[in-house]
Amino acid sequence: MGHSDVAIIGGGVIGLSIAWRCAQRGLAVTVLDPDPGAGASSTAAGMLAPVTELHFDGRDLLALNLASAARYPDFVAELSSRTGVDVDFRRCGTVQVAWDAADLVALRQLHGFHASLGVSSTMLTGRELRAAVPALAAGLPGGLWAENDHQVDNRRLHAALLVAADMAGVTMVAATVAEIIMTGGDRVTGVGTDAGERFSAGVTVLSAGAWSHGIAGIPADVRPPVRPIKGQTLRLRGPVGLLDHVVRGSVKGNPVYLVPRSDGELVIGASSEEAGFDLRARAGAVYELLRDAATLVPELSEAEFVEVSTSVRPGSPDNAPMLGASGLDGLVIATGHYRNGILLTPVTADEIAGLIVDGTPSALLTPFAPARFARPSRERSRDSVAAAAGSPHFPRTIDVAASSTEVRA
Ligand code: GLY
Repeated sequence: MGHSDVAIIGGGVIGLSIAWRCAQRGLAVTVLDPDPGAGASSTAAGMLAPVTELHFDGRDLLALNLASAARYPDFVAELSSRTGVDVDFRRCGTVQVAWDAADLVALRQLHGFHASLGVSSTMLTGRELRAAVPALAAGLPGGLWAENDHQVDNRRLHAALLVAADMAGVTMVAATVAEIIMTGGDRVTGVGTDAGERFSAGVTVLSAGAWSHGIAGIPADVRPPVRPIKGQTLRLRGPVGLLDHVVRGSVKGNPVYLVPRSDGELVIGASSEEAGFDLRARAGAVYELLRDAATLVPELSEAEFVEVSTSVRPGSPDNAPMLGASGLDGLVIATGHYRNGILLTPVTADEIAGLIVDGTPSALLTPFAPARFARPSRERSRDSVAAAAGSPHFPRTIDVAASSTEVRA
C-alpha cells in the first residue's frame, strides 16, 4: 500500500492539473486512472467559451469561467515552456451565427444580457458575418462576435499535463478506483482499486468526471450528484484556413459548432444525450452534426472524415461544477464541470491546490461548494454538512514543509 499526501481519482485534465499544481507546491501526489484522458478530456472540442456558453441563469458560473479564461494565456505558456508541448492555444474569437430571423432576435437578447453583465460581444449584420467568415453559406441574416472566446487543442493540453505532472514527480497508477477508504466513520484515508490494492493519502480528490458518482464508500449525503450527458464530436481534416474563428450556430433549432485547429483539423460538435454510460457512437448524431455543419459551411462536405469520438460530460443539477470540501474530513470534490471542463482547468487546478495546501476555500470557490447539494442523512448531522461549504475544519491543511523538502515544478 503506497502513501501520498494527495490521491487523485481521475487523470483527465481536471485531475492532472490539480496533481501538477499540488506537486509544484511540494506535495507527494498519486493519480489513479485506468486510461488517463480517455474520457471527456479527449472528446471535448477545446472551446474556451465563457461568453457563447453563457445562459441566462449562469451569472455565478460566468465569474468562474471568466476567471479561468483570464488565466489561460499564462497557464498554457507555463505548461508549454516546461514540457515543450505546443497545445495550440488560438486566440481566434468565436462567431455565433443566426440561422433565421428568430435566431437573430435571440442573439440580440443574449447580446443585451452580455452588455448588462459588462461582457463584450458585438452584433454582426449578414454582410459583416460573411466578411468575418467567407466560408459561411450565403443568406444568413447576421450573428454575434465574441472576440474573447478562444480555443485550445484539448488532446494536446492533456498530453502536456501528463508530461508536466511526470516532471513534477506525480505518480501515475493505471488502476480503477472502486471505493474510498474511511477510518473512524467520517475520515477518508485513501482509496481502494477494483483489483483490491489500497493507496492511503492525507487528502483524496474526487475528480473522476461523470464517473464520480459511482465510487463506493461515499455516504449518500456527500456523494456528488453528477450524471453522464453523452456528447459526440467529429474530427475532420479540411483545407487549412477554411475557418479562422470558432463558428457556432443552430440550424433549425439544432446546435452545432466548428472548431478549426491551426493544422487543418476541424472538430465538429456536439450531441447532448441522456443515455447513461452508453458510449457507442450513434449514427443519427453523426448524421445530424455533419448535416448541420455543412449547412453552415458547405465546403465542409469535401473535407476528409477522420474520427467520431464519444464520451460523457459530468452534468450537475445546476450545470455548475462542485468544487471544494466534501463534508468528510480528507475528501475534496472537483467534478461536475459539464460543458466547461477544458475552460475551467486552470482555475480548478489553482484553487483546489490552494484549498488543499491552505485549508480554506477562496471566494471564487464559495458559490460552487459541493454542500449546496448535500442532503443531510440520519447518520450525519446537518452541522457537518453545512460546515463543509466553507469551514476551515476541512480539508486538513497539509504541512508542506513536513511532507516534502523540495518544491517540484
Ligand atoms: N463545451 C461544449 C460541449 O460541451 O459540447
